[in-house]
Formats: sequence, structure tokens, C-alpha cells
Amino acid sequence: YETIQVSELAKLMGVKVGELIKKSLQMGMPVTANQSIDADTAAILADEFGYQVEKAPIEEEILLQYIPPSPEELKPRPPVVTVMGHVDHGKTTLLDAIRKTDVASKEAGGITQHIGAYTVKLEDGRIITFIDTPGHEAFTSMRARGAQVTDIVILVVAADDGVMEQTKEAIEHARAAKVPIVVAINKIDKPDANPERVKSQLAELGLVPEEWGGNTLVANISAKKRIGIEELLELVLLQAEMLDLKAAYDRPARGRIIESKLDKGRGPVATVIVQEGTLREGDVFVAGLTYGRVRAMFDSYGNRIKTATPSIPVEILGFEDVPQAGDDFIVVDEEEKARKIAEYRQRKAREAEAAKEVKISLEKLFEKL
Ligand code: GTP
Ligand code: MG
Repeated sequence: YETIQVSELAKLMGVKVGELIKKSLQMGMPVTANQSIDADTAAILADEFGYQVEKAPIEEEILLQYIPPSPEELKPRPPVVTVMGHVDHGKTTLLDAIRKTDVASKEAGGITQHIGAYTVKLEDGRIITFIDTPGHEAFTSMRARGAQVTDIVILVVAADDGVMEQTKEAIEHARAAKVPIVVAINKIDKPDANPERVKSQLAELGLVPEEWGGNTLVANISAKKRIGIEELLELVLLQAEMLDLKAAYDRPARGRIIESKLDKGRGPVATVIVQEGTLREGDVFVAGLTYGRVRAMFDSYGNRIKTATPSIPVEILGFEDVPQAGDDFIVVDEEEKARKIAEYRQRKAREAEAAKEVKISLEKLFEKL
């Protein structure tokens, strides 16, 4: 890890450099005044003079000093929207309709296998970022790690099925995260669709539609037939306006890992959603227990891009190791610093792991007694 110069060590102990060198010769481990020695060697030498060497922890907080942006730095940013809802109620079909693409039919068995993040640009140039979750676990586990990235939840409820178990769960998750819900009553094209019944079910759960005097925005849609999609997006943007979402653009980027994988050809790859600042190709970063340098960056359509601003998800190449979904992503000025922070975090993680093991084995011991 850390090293110290022999002359510096002597100064700290208040002994002459010559004395220290003499001692090192006597001990058969000769050093010179300008030599940098590691902590273990320093500890052995210091011991001879009655001193103990402590390895100072790298203060992550100091290295990652964060100065919150001033109000003048803040500019509007696009909303980040997560689509939630019961199985098969049409989340993926809705995202397809929004993107006017057809991912669902290509997915194995039609079930979402991954978290995707996409930006959608509307005709008037406004942008919305969507996150498609394969389940509520992703949302919950991200949130449990303090990694809230979602500004608005679109709750998809099938007009034929109505409110189901996972609909209720989604509402609870959104509420716990204090994220406003925009309701999309889907499948209105079906003969047995009953949107009014869905509305009363939702009202019972406290989501009272605006037309009934409440403040929940509700759109009737058919994801499959592409009915009501524009109206839904209007409601999302209306909700976003009420939230007054802003971020600083002109500073080093910070964000969150949304998904990651080890690609056979390209190495570790991760999707990052930028939450603040501007990310550039070549930027050095720390992400969870790893670090790296942005070698290449791609937008949600696979186009190579050079910069990414707040609320924009990007796929990044250049990680030393695979980070985890929910990890932070922080641009720092030097690679050396990034490496040190990552090593420091790894050490802390190992210590925490070891402490946990001790606790478990103690608990086992007590069980036996
Ligand atoms: P999971 O990812 O498995 O939770 O499902 P999902 O919520 O993403 O549902 P998905 O989009 O895969 O849709 C499930 C089924 O409902 C598919 O067969 C869709 O074609 C169908 N579906 C989705 N939207 C509509 C709609 O508006 N009308 C009709 N009739 N069918 C729809
Ligand atoms: Mg799906």
C-alpha cells in the first residue's frame, strides 16, 4: 500500500537520518535517506526506536470531497421514469410502444430478462428516460442501497385484470421512495376491459384520479394498439414539471450503475445513469469497489457518444472490474486517486465481511451452548 521516505520516517520519530540508516545496516536491511520503504519495513525500523507504525486509512471522504451545487448552477433535467406493475400487465409492450420498437417479441418467452434504460426523444425535443425493471426487487434493492434514480413511476394496470398483488406492491414501493405515480390503465382495447373499475380500485388504495377530485394522473391506453401513448407521456411531463427537476451540468459527473455484465469480447460493461455533471470519454472514475476510465460510451440506441449529461443512461467500457447495480459512479481527477479509493473500499468491504463471519460463528457457538 503506502510508502514513506526514510528521511521522513526519521523526522517523524525525531531521530537523525544517519542513526536510522546505521540501525538498518545493523539489522541487515540497509536503506538510504531518499529511499521509499513500505509500511512493514517502516514498522520494523520504527520498533527499534520504540515507535509503532500505523497505516493511516485513505480517507475516502477527503478524496471524494463533494461540494453540493449552488442554485445558480442548476438547470432543468429530463425525468427518469420507471415502469412498474403486475406480471403481464404490459410494461414491456408499453415501452415498445413508446420507443416504437419491438423488443418484447424478441425477448425469450416475452419476459423481461434485464433492466433496460432508454431515452426517448419526443417530437418537440423533450426527453424522458425510461427504466424497465424485470421486477420490483431491482427497484427495492437499488433503493435499499440508497440508489434512488427514479423520479416518477408509471404504474401499469391491465384494464381487464384490475389491481393485483404486484400492483399493490408497486404502489407501496413508490410510496416508500416518495416517488409520484402516474397510472396507465392498459389493454383498454380488450372486450372485457373495465377502466372505471380499475379507477375505483385505485381510489380505494388512495390513488384518487384527478377527474374524481384527487391528484393522481391517469391515462387510458392500449400499449398494443398504441392508443393514448402521447397523452400518457404528456401526463408524465406534467408530473415532471411539478417536480421541478434540476441538476448541475458543468462539473465532473456523478451517477449510478443500473446494470452490469462481463462481456466476453469487451470486458466489464455497465450502464450508468448520469445524475449530475457531464460525463466525457476519457474520464477517470470510481464505481463501487472498482474504478476505471471511460474508454467508450454508447447511448441507449448503441450510438457511440462523447458526452452524457444528467438523466441520460449510457453504456460504458473501461471498468477494471464488474461493478454492481446500485453502485455509485464518481468521476475523479486522477487514476491513482481512483485506484486508491477502490482499494480502500475493497479493504473495508473485506473487513466488514470478516466481521460478519466472526459474528455468525459466535452465534453458532451460542446456539450450541
Ligand atoms: P413481465 O415483464 O413478464 O412482467 O410482463 P409485462 O408487464 O412486461 O407485459 P408484456 O408487455 O410482456 O405483455 C404481456 C402480454 O399482454 C403480451 O402478450 C402483450 O401482447 C399483451 N398486451 C400488452 N399490452 C396490451 C394491450 O394494450 N392490449 C392487449 N390486448 N394486449 C396487450
Ligand atoms: Mg416485461
